[in-house]
Amino acid sequence: TTSSNNSATALAHTNIALIKYWGKKNADLIIPYTGSLSLTLDQFYTKTQVSFDRQLEQDTLLINEQAVTDKSWQRVHDFLNLVRQQSGITENARVISDNHVPTAAGLASSASAFAALAAAASKASGMDLNERDLSRLARRGSGSACRSIYGGFVEWQRGSDDTDSYAVPIENPNLKDIRIVALTIETHQKPISSRQGMERSVTTSPYYPTWVKVVESDLKEIKSAISQNDFAKFGAISEFNAMRMHALTLSANPDFLYFNGMTLDAMNEVKRLRHAGVECYYTVDAGPNVKVICQTKNVDTIANTFSKILGPEKVTVAKPGPGIKYL
Ligand code: PMV
Repeated sequence: TTSSNNSATALAHTNIALIKYWGKKNADLIIPYTGSLSLTLDQFYTKTQVSFDRQLEQDTLLINEQAVTDKSWQRVHDFLNLVRQQSGITENARVISDNHVPTAAGLASSASAFAALAAAASKASGMDLNERDLSRLARRGSGSACRSIYGGFVEWQRGSDDTDSYAVPIENPNLKDIRIVALTIETHQKPISSRQGMERSVTTSPYYPTWVKVVESDLKEIKSAISQNDFAKFGAISEFNAMRMHALTLSANPDFLYFNGMTLDAMNEVKRLRHAGVECYYTVDAGPNVKVICQTKNVDTIANTFSKILGPEKVTVAKPGPGIKYL
């Protein structure tokens, strides 16, 4: 008989890295070369239901009410195989997933997607994983997903194998009034996936070994900025770290770049605001979108400035968000 035990629903929020994960030491297990540090956001989340059902002839995937059968299905299927292997369950699964984006916020969905899938699938399979093991499992779907198990500031400790590479929450964090203004910048170029981009940076950028050293000190510094409630230090390290990550794309062979002209304009506008006394910093991931890092006191000025430039529908204000939830 199929009992309700074979079904579970989980909700996970996306996260933005301030100290970036860029490069895998082990591509199969997704073990990174460096640690990373992120903030889980309240604005964008994925809700996923997984039901294991012996009547199903294969795994099925529905995202925002659309049946998915392409590469994304394969990735979800591979991940479910991992859950079946760990739990001993043999049934196929029905996966129903909804991504909640306010206005095409330009935030990556793989972190919230694989965090929610890991939680729902492991629960539905009968495994009762603690948060650490859930983080390890989510990591196998997408590296950044291991950080979305927790809310607020989160560090992914790189570890060296499957057992010790997982995320942990930052204890007693300060900087509680932090805000992220996410700017959606259109691109018409076919993006280079983070997977491909990392691979190429690791194997061809002469600066990659230096990046590994830089991240080690950036992580130490940003953690001290968080505990000392030092926003200026926090913002400056975040901005430097993002630029140093993107330098690994410029220095790769063949070189590539995630920024476009509007990305550069937005970055310059952040600097202009900062020099005018509105303290803010930027970070950019594997795409053209810019996220502005600021505090509550300046968030309206910054959001209004970019609403005038880009249109209000391209500007989303996010706060620190929660960790994984079961529904
Ligand atoms: O988790 P992935 O494979 O989508 O990689 C994420 C890469 C960055 O977003 C650029 C950095 C990060 O740490 O999230």
